[in-house]
Amino acid sequence: MKTNIAVFFGCRSVEHEVSIISAVQAMRAIPREKYDVTPVYVTKNGEMYTGDALFAVENYADLPKLLDRCARVFFLRDGGRVVMRFAEQKRFRKREDIAVDLGFPIVHGTNCEDGTMAGLFSFLDLPFISCDILSAAVGMDKAVFKSVLKEAGLPVLDCVCFRAREYAVAPQPVLEKIEQKIGFPLIVKPVNLGSSVGITKVKTAEELPEAIELAMSFADQILVEHAISALREINCSVLGDVDDCQASVCEEPFMHDEILSYEDKYLGGGKQSGGSKGMASLGRKIPADLSEERSAEIRALACDVFRAIGASGVVRIDFMMDTQEDKVYVNEINTIPGSLAFYLWEASGISYPQLIDRLIEIAFRRQRNRENLTFAIETNILAGASFGTKGAKGTKRS
Ligand SMILES: Nc1ncnc2c1ncn2[C@@H]1O[C@H](COP(=O)(O)OP(=O)(O)O)[C@@H](O)[C@H]1O
Ligand SMILES: [Mg+2]
Repeated sequence: MKTNIAVFFGCRSVEHEVSIISAVQAMRAIPREKYDVTPVYVTKNGEMYTGDALFAVENYADLPKLLDRCARVFFLRDGGRVVMRFAEQKRFRKREDIAVDLGFPIVHGTNCEDGTMAGLFSFLDLPFISCDILSAAVGMDKAVFKSVLKEAGLPVLDCVCFRAREYAVAPQPVLEKIEQKIGFPLIVKPVNLGSSVGITKVKTAEELPEAIELAMSFADQILVEHAISALREINCSVLGDVDDCQASVCEEPFMHDEILSYEDKYLGGGKQSGGSKGMASLGRKIPADLSEERSAEIRALACDVFRAIGASGVVRIDFMMDTQEDKVYVNEINTIPGSLAFYLWEASGISYPQLIDRLIEIAFRRQRNRENLTFAIETNILAGASFGTKGAKGTKRS
């Protein structure tokens, strides 16, 4: 029997469509002689569907038609294993449960990449690819991520963070703090989104409230930091786990505007140019034009960041270089990067199918380690106890 991999994608996230592209690419690269693939498309309202029609990206142009050709499913533990069960039965032919061996989340953004999917798999005790709950959650929250890195002595820009409610009640103190601590130009970001959604570069105090309002429409926690004017962006992928990880070559993505936008990332710089390649279609230089020392410094930093948050699987860490100050800062981590950063691994001598093989190995190794830990005590201390009405407080000490 081949290992059956359930690939989850879509979800209630602003990066829903990007996730579809990443997942379709990955499903094509999974070596079928070794693995079976069960696609699990999670709709924007959280329903899960499976079906062969999910393998072709063009089918997603008409979602109602696509879902008509698929079946709604859910996952549960049954008889010591995890199965996918069909929510509706056909009239004449019973749809049998399908056993699943491994969860492969190819999701981006809030409500999925942020530890939510990792939580689902952990709850089911299903081995899964990518970061565990904690590292995924830390990686998604730009403010928490920065403070963990700061604690680890890694270079990040200082920031001011505040809650939307705090600003709504009294904007003036927040605005003053931003002007004093950060100054202009600055960048306003929602703490937990991706794909540049809700991010604005602000050059003057007059522009600041509007930028904050925009960020507040996406998140209830906002982050403000200094905007680097002489900016070069460098990304690097890391593969492995905390015990053993390696960094890919670096890339330099090209922007069409001051901020690397959603269009730059997924539509190849223009809405007209078609967007079926996801992150892989972004204009970029691989390897990035860097001195050997700089490239080695960034790759070593990338592994430090990976270990600092306890990551696992394949991630992409994005850096910002201030060419005026000649300094490198860690900007953010994508714990499930667009296109799984396969193009960086290809350029590092690892093919996409090999990358997937490695990810599966890492996931099963973590599961074996987990199995060696004690999660439950076999004896039932409630068996044979006498129950009063006072609960634990009422039991006599011996
Ligand atoms: N401090 C900064 N200075 C200058 N540009 C920035 C700064 N922070 C972000 N940007 C620009 O905005 C883009 C998106 O910001 P980022 O923090 O990477 O958010 P996202 O999670 O949406 O990718 C970056 O790729 C970069 O082009
Ligand atoms: Mg980014």
